[in-house]
Amino acid sequence: MASERAPIAVIGTGYVGLVTAAGFAELGSEVWCVDVDADKIARLQRGEIPIYEPGLAECLARNRGRLHFGRELAPALEHARLLFVAVGTPPTYSGDADLSAVHAVVDAMPASDQHALVMKSTVPVGTGASIKRIFDEQGKSAFAYVSCPEFLKEGSALQDFLSPDRVVVGDDRDWAGDAVVELYAPLDAALVRTDIASAEMIKLAANAFLATKISFINEIANVCEETGADVLEVARGMGLDHRIGTHFLRPGIGFGGSCFPKDVSALKQLAGNSGYHFQLLTAVIEVNELQKRRVMGKLHKHLGSLVGKKVALLGLAFKPNTDDMREASSLVLSARLQADGAMVRAYDPIAEEEARKLMGGVEFADSALQALDGAHACVVVTEWPEFVELDWRAAAERMVGAVVIDGRNCIAPEHVRDAGLVYEGIGR
Ligand SMILES: NC(=O)c1ccc[n+]([C@@H]2O[C@H](COP(=O)([O-])OP(=O)(O)OC[C@H]3O[C@@H](n4cnc5c(N)ncnc54)[C@H](O)[C@@H]3O)[C@@H](O)[C@H]2O)c1
Repeated sequence: MASERAPIAVIGTGYVGLVTAAGFAELGSEVWCVDVDADKIARLQRGEIPIYEPGLAECLARNRGRLHFGRELAPALEHARLLFVAVGTPPTYSGDADLSAVHAVVDAMPASDQHALVMKSTVPVGTGASIKRIFDEQGKSAFAYVSCPEFLKEGSALQDFLSPDRVVVGDDRDWAGDAVVELYAPLDAALVRTDIASAEMIKLAANAFLATKISFINEIANVCEETGADVLEVARGMGLDHRIGTHFLRPGIGFGGSCFPKDVSALKQLAGNSGYHFQLLTAVIEVNELQKRRVMGKLHKHLGSLVGKKVALLGLAFKPNTDDMREASSLVLSARLQADGAMVRAYDPIAEEEARKLMGGVEFADSALQALDGAHACVVVTEWPEFVELDWRAAAERMVGAVVIDGRNCIAPEHVRDAGLVYEGIGR
């Protein structure tokens, strides 16, 4: 039976693309997914899910009949008018966004007045305008363009996609913008329909603001450590003020992941390239880098030299419920620990496969307790629920030292102290 909803295409089947495809399929659309990664496409065609994201495998399985995976653009162009672009935009060495994958997609488009690129990838302000100029130069002026930035969070991506706080559609008030609005209509989310540049800026500004909140509370935590206040009490007291809000006031060892670091740096670069020095973001980035290193100071305080000491890292993914290791704090930490002569044993319930590709010289354990065998100290890097509930008495029996650094303030200090261990959190 033909679906009543418009078929769509999704170009790039990573975290955003696959969730977008699954979400729109769940809403009833046929979805043609395209990716240049042959291995990924082969796995998806076999029904395997290349990433870990709660609920995604079930959703893709439920909607298998509506989902088509391939490496060729032609079937997507034949069946769909709206082509959602969800390719990666990683940082370059200068901190700008690398748009080469986006440009590869733009260049591959044919001349058409029947199709639109709908940009889900996070791109600098002005990208839409420059793509439209490229379309003009390539004789494809009639190809429509919509900016539709994505705000999902890894770890709850599908749920975020299906219940967004808002949907942002930036367009030239043409058929394509109307079609995107219609596609999202069943979600009943607040709609921000605006121009393309403003839509692009909304995404960058939102991420920069959230990152600023994190660096802000991390600095408050550092001052709390110097002055004897408990940052968790402070954050609670602050967050109950509606003008502030409780979200993103969780101090820890800094933000990582595929979005915040690169998007903050891309906005700072974008401002700089336009002649404006974005001082606040410079500080946000610096605070975040220093925050990752504060754990080293805490370890040295308790252990002195780290040469020959065994340090267990609990959690490697940049946050719980994902296997994404991009810009994870664990990467910086394991490199610093080894540079200082420590031996690192690590455990993550989901991200080990990714971590093995990125972390040299690290021994991987099969469980948290195994990671703690013979350890002088342990650092909780990711707040996976199993660490929150860890049996710290059993942990103490395995460890030769007593130091537990809770890099996410996720453990009840008394559970650790009752086991005879030394607890140290961030800012408390
Ligand atoms: N991951 C997130 O939480 C998140 C949230 C919001 C926005 N974003 C943005 O969405 C974009 C995608 O992020 P992601 O995390 O899904 O990236 P990802 O690296 O997981 O996936 C990108 C995919 O695009 C594919 N690709 C690259 N070039 C291609 C091409 N020319 N044609 C077809 N496929 C191509 C890659 O093979 C890969 O599968 C980025 O711009 C990111 O900033 C990400």
